[in-house]
Amino acid sequence: MSIAHTVLGLETSCDETAAAVVRLDAEGRVEVLSSIVGTQVAEHAPYGGVVPEIAARSHVETIDAIANRALEEAGLGYDDLTGVAATAGPGLVGGVMVGLAFGKAVALARELPLVAVNHLEGHAVSARLAAHIPYPFLLLLVSGGHCQLLAVEGVGACRRLGSTIDDAAGEAFDKIAKTLGLPYPGGPALEALAEGGDPESFALPRALLGRAGCDFSFSGLKTAAARQAEGLTSEVERRNLAASVQAAIARQLAERTDRAMAAYAAEHPGQPLRFVVAGGVAANKAVRARLQETAAARGFSFDAPPLAYCTDNAAMIALAGAERLALGLSDPLDAPARPRWPLDAAAALSNPTHVPGRKGAKA
Ligand code: KG4
Ligand code: ZN
Repeated sequence: MSIAHTVLGLETSCDETAAAVVRLDAEGRVEVLSSIVGTQVAEHAPYGGVVPEIAARSHVETIDAIANRALEEAGLGYDDLTGVAATAGPGLVGGVMVGLAFGKAVALARELPLVAVNHLEGHAVSARLAAHIPYPFLLLLVSGGHCQLLAVEGVGACRRLGSTIDDAAGEAFDKIAKTLGLPYPGGPALEALAEGGDPESFALPRALLGRAGCDFSFSGLKTAAARQAEGLTSEVERRNLAASVQAAIARQLAERTDRAMAAYAAEHPGQPLRFVVAGGVAANKAVRARLQETAAARGFSFDAPPLAYCTDNAAMIALAGAERLALGLSDPLDAPARPRWPLDAAAALSNPTHVPGRKGAKA
């Protein structure tokens, strides 16, 4: 790592249009010069979820202004950049194409190297935006689309230890929140409702408890919670069910992480044991608290990104790009947008949790 990199990051894989400028200096210090996130929540709310066509159109309309604002807030112009990093997948491909095409245009016009970033690699480095966390570390990535345990050995070198066999944790939060009549996105709404509720009041299934491996499953919990939600008569009961659901999700995440920690520790004898949780669900306080206890009991350090870097943002994409540029890695201008792009392609193909279709393994 010999020179400093100042990278414009672009993120358009779901329902946030985001741009950021991040500097990675020669000593590996990270500085977020700006991070702008334009959310489309209001545009999708009437439909109870993200509508891909609306998302893509909205990205087209706003990416230009958001990228310019990111540069303005950083006090820089396009000439000050040393690279451009854009999410190239996995995600809603219409949106991914918008950010990637914008990034390619900037790269071409300004003769800058382009990095086509895997969105999951962005989440994997997100905690490094605010704290010095050396490789390797054990990562729990919990978002609306993903729920995976990964051994992150270095830049772009991830090995998957476990993954969900049905829904992602954020998806479970969102779907259960919907049955409780809460607005989208359901995770933060359910967390707010759960406040003051009794997490022991409803008995909910404990999926995969004691089962070998580190995979997750949330579909049984979702069905059970929907059934319980039907008979609720009072606000107190709604609070109690929300608290019980939140505790059940946190418990499963902690139990499976505990198994992954044991495996990771055995594979890294004599090395510092570090644990990082990232992704939108890492914003949940009950989830964080439970994982923090698990890490302490296993002798792992605990890190989670600040809340603004848990959910989708472009600073994490810029940093993932900068780390690759520092290693001399970049991508050609015909790099494709990939709706599916497993972070650990080898594990995804040898042990598919979703049977790969014609488009290849899902992330
Ligand atoms: O990382 P993210 O912004 O997007 C994806 O890449 O999926 O994660 C969004 C997910 C949504 O499912 C949302 O409900 C969940 O993260 N989420 C939360 C909280 N904040 C966001 N879930 C539980 N508690 C929260 N406080
Ligand atoms: Zn994400």
